[in-house]
Amino acid sequence: MFGWVGRIIPDEVAIALASANWLRFIQPLKIMSTAPLRIAITGAAGAIGYSLVFRIASGGLFGPGQPLVLHLIDIEPALPVLRGVVMELEDCAYPLLKGLVATTNLEEGFRAADWALLVGSVPRKPGLERKDLLGINGKIFIEQGRAIQKHAARDIRILVVGNPCNTNCLIGMNNSPDIPRDRWHAMTRLDENRAKTQLSQKAGVKISRVSNLAIWGNHSATQYPDFYNAKIDGRPVTQMIKDENWLKNEFVTTVAQRGTAVLKARGASSAASAANAIIDSVKSMSSPTAAGDWNSVCVCSDGSYGIEKGLICSFPVRSDGQKLTIVPGLEIPPFSRAKIDASVAELKEERAIASEQGLIPK
Ligand code: NAD
Ligand code: LMR
Repeated sequence: MFGWVGRIIPDEVAIALASANWLRFIQPLKIMSTAPLRIAITGAAGAIGYSLVFRIASGGLFGPGQPLVLHLIDIEPALPVLRGVVMELEDCAYPLLKGLVATTNLEEGFRAADWALLVGSVPRKPGLERKDLLGINGKIFIEQGRAIQKHAARDIRILVVGNPCNTNCLIGMNNSPDIPRDRWHAMTRLDENRAKTQLSQKAGVKISRVSNLAIWGNHSATQYPDFYNAKIDGRPVTQMIKDENWLKNEFVTTVAQRGTAVLKARGASSAASAANAIIDSVKSMSSPTAAGDWNSVCVCSDGSYGIEKGLICSFPVRSDGQKLTIVPGLEIPPFSRAKIDASVAELKEERAIASEQGLIPK
């Protein structure tokens, strides 16, 4: 175990209290918007971490008025690199960055955290599917789920990024039974962004004109980017892109295989675009969604759209700034239904493997 606290600013009383475990009990009293938010990031020494922490520390996530304390969590072999990341953060002299905790200790890492961005895990190599990582990565989320339950702020919100992110999130959630299930999320925002780009390029329109893009199911090759409910300029995509064959085939496959294509091209999995999607996800979860629009987040299914309760599945969601709601009443034509069902079947398979491996308590 190794840990240190750096760059403590003397007039920040809240930071001096960082080691007080009881701090998490006064989280609901954080009524002053200037109280620092504590953001825990696992895998902070990794590739995504390096693209993420500087954007957060500069105010690129919670805005220029929100002070922050970053809790950077990694494992022992990554500590020399993590030290370097801390040095660089210090050298940026970010005014909003009121404290840094860099540690391998989960209690210290998650203590009083308001947000937990669970990135730390092994990325896949070419030739692997994300679910092939379950045996290596799944167990990480047992300990992290337990530590978050014990030490984080009562109103903690968690975004799982490490793959296979849906099932890792399921493992974390099931190992933290006292945390409301609606605090656990996994990331399909990168897939949403990829899908919007494909549609904007095909239609020859600016990306900002594409909206209402839902990813359904698993963050895997079976995911379904829902072009039937997506819009360009507020009109159905199918009216703007008449080539339904392209939508059903090339579009769906390109989005679902984009991670593999990036991995092949870079020799390493996506990192900057993943960090960007983490920023987009947390922003859209913590601020109200624009009227009539929605975003994609994997949440604990409440049985909506016939998707089994308790699975961590990607849905179209809206946020009021605090809570997410699955968008009700969308039309699901037979093509979409078959795609969603196939992806949900894969989520069930992954859950069965996680259960067999003892990663989900009975
Ligand atoms: P990386 O190998 O560059 O970095 C991973 C970091 O996690 C390393 O610093 C490593 O030491 C650390 N780590 C490993 N085990 C840990 C543990 N138990 N606790 C804390 N830290 C730990 O990998 P990366 O490119 O940053 O990717 C990280 C994960 O994110 C991978 O699983 C990857 O597949 C996933 N990913 C998901 C999405 C998505 O859209 N959901 C997108 C891109 C990448
Ligand atoms: C992605 O979608 O880019 C990530 O999940 C990384 C991967 O393994 O493809």
